[in-house]
Amino acid sequence: SNGSATAVAHPNIALIKYWGKSDEQLVLPRTDSLSMTLDIFPTTTRVRLVPEAEHDEVTLGGAPLEGEARRRVVAFLDLVRERAGSSQRAVVATENTVPTGAGLASSASGFAALAVAASAAYGLDSDPTALSRLARRGSGSASRSVFGDFAIWHAGRPGEADADLSSYAEPVTTGEFAPALVIAVVNAGPKAVSSRAAMRRTVDTSPLYEPWAASSKDDLAEMREALLKGDLDAVGEIAERNALGMHATMLAARPAVRYLSAPTLTVLDSVLQLRRDGVPAYATMDAGPNVKVLCHRKDAERVAAVVRGAVPGGSVHVAGPGPGARLLNG
Ligand code: DP6
Repeated sequence: SNGSATAVAHPNIALIKYWGKSDEQLVLPRTDSLSMTLDIFPTTTRVRLVPEAEHDEVTLGGAPLEGEARRRVVAFLDLVRERAGSSQRAVVATENTVPTGAGLASSASGFAALAVAASAAYGLDSDPTALSRLARRGSGSASRSVFGDFAIWHAGRPGEADADLSSYAEPVTTGEFAPALVIAVVNAGPKAVSSRAAMRRTVDTSPLYEPWAASSKDDLAEMREALLKGDLDAVGEIAERNALGMHATMLAARPAVRYLSAPTLTVLDSVLQLRRDGVPAYATMDAGPNVKVLCHRKDAERVAAVVRGAVPGGSVHVAGPGPGARLLNG
């Protein structure tokens, strides 16, 4: 390593959700999850070691990162330094292409790109499994963005001596399957509560959490079958019920965590209408009001038009399966 590296990574959208940790320190999830990495909204991160510096310099889009966001990046770099036996500080410059204020999670692409760039800059192991484990420590969902197309993230063996090693993502085998995800960015107000805090509260207080986690296991097994068959209707039905179930666990938390807003429900209605009109379309939602609609590629423009009509003032983006995280030259 010459002490400098640049990496690019894309966001992923979970079809079987990660919601709840068994170990906050190690970022171990309660359940396995499965996602599709997107081909839009890449994050590019450059890490350059600065031997004489006393502090890390962390910027996003050229502006210094502050508060909790900066703290998470520095804690991540501390972990990398500990493993590399290095005390060198770094300049970390990140560029996001997600429309600002879109309320789309960028922590997955962000920590996947940072894991790849920092590992190269500090001279750590660069095999994809090691990178996935490392990215996990920054943000759980980032473990999946190390891989392209479809990836499963294993909950591993929390509490065991090899807990940290046991939890990583890997590619999922599918049949011929390249669907579209139509992303409806609804007018996002200020984010109510971070996903990290929200999942903690859900696990601690929601009577629906354990039943959802149990049914998520069955959803995952069925999802693997559906992906192998390339069966969009089955994939969509399983993904939609898994996501709605996750949101049900939050609604039952005390106090409730509610990310779904009125425009969210309007988009969900338009998805139902599409299905009644014979267009296979299925929805999934994460820690915010936006809706991602799974459909056949050939239907993507029609679905996008319908969804666009449902959210005036919002923006709609069409994504397909995208590449895993990788180093760029220079
Ligand atoms: C709803 O990966 O952002 O998007 O591990 O605390 O950083 P931390 O959480 P994060 O949570 C993502 C939750 C989700 C579902 C998913 O992506 O699986």
